Amino acid sequence: MKALKRALALLLASILCISFWGCSKPAEETTKETKKETTKETQKEPAKDESQAKTEENAKDDLIVVGYAQVGAESDWRTANTVSFQTTFVEENGYKLIFDDAQQKQENQIKAIRNFIQQEVDYIVLAPVVETGWETVLGEAKEAGIPVILSDRMIDVTDDSLYVAWVGGNFIKEGNDCVDWLAGYLKEQGRENEQINIVTLQGTIGSSAQVGRTKGVEEKLSEHPNWTMLDRQTGEFTQSKGQEVMESFLKSYDDIDVVIAENDNMAFGAIDAIKAAGLDPGEDIIIIGFDAVHAAFEAMIAGDMNCSVECNPLHGPRVAEIIQKLERGETVDKIQYVDEGVFPAETAAELIATRTY
Ligand code: AHR
Repeated sequence: MKALKRALALLLASILCISFWGCSKPAEETTKETKKETTKETQKEPAKDESQAKTEENAKDDLIVVGYAQVGAESDWRTANTVSFQTTFVEENGYKLIFDDAQQKQENQIKAIRNFIQQEVDYIVLAPVVETGWETVLGEAKEAGIPVILSDRMIDVTDDSLYVAWVGGNFIKEGNDCVDWLAGYLKEQGRENEQINIVTLQGTIGSSAQVGRTKGVEEKLSEHPNWTMLDRQTGEFTQSKGQEVMESFLKSYDDIDVVIAENDNMAFGAIDAIKAAGLDPGEDIIIIGFDAVHAAFEAMIAGDMNCSVECNPLHGPRVAEIIQKLERGETVDKIQYVDEGVFPAETAAELIATRTY
């Protein structure tokens, strides 16, 4: 795509050049003006520096321009995801990255995409806040001939030609894994036949991470008739909102056995609320998070958290690989899942040093 653009630019430049010579001024006049210009330029900078600057300018013209419409900075996961893009899409690797933080608002992402289209970027990467409402703006990107790559969350569209590929976690499987881990843990504790009361701190309602994890947990709950989901409420994937919602759960229910937090940061908020209520998180109440960020390993080592189900945020190199393939005219897999594991507290001390986010 980039190569085609460059070839077209070259062709256009040659045509302009030919027409310029065809209708140029008389030779003398041109020479005079050229001389004047040259003298001025020579006075400003030595000729060698000028050509060097030109080379650098041309190298910049060759960069692949990528616009990234990021969700925000709501969690440790998100920060790691941003860093992954900012360290991959650098000039040394042949890229110019235009980064936009939407502050968890879909309307900001739509504005950012329209700006990217106006700036004629080569690729748009979108980590959609929510799944619905993308047809119009992605239709505009398609119309402009700009390929869109989805990172992290999915979109709900009937026309899947609106994006070339998606890279992210398997959120439903993560929800399934959470329940399977809890079942094994309760069995180990000899509590498999006890009445177990659960509350869930959900992510941003309508985001794939929330929809998938809630669904994945729900699917498996029917296997455990002695478990009750007491309540579910959104904590918007942030620590402060997670804490606020947990405080209200603790006021409403005095028999909570398990907190499922749809990301680690909300789990950290829940831990603070539980401690403030005079209870012992990890002991009195089982705490499960998602993401497996570094701070979750610290919380598990401290005994405050029992398990974190991984969601890998390091998408930068994977998206770069997709772009490189598209540049070579190769086809890419439309759906690309990242590898993810489950990390119970017993593994935390041994593994913390190996964690890269
Ligand atoms: O979409 C991925 C989720 O978004 C992560 O679990 C969460 O931490 C982030 O905010």
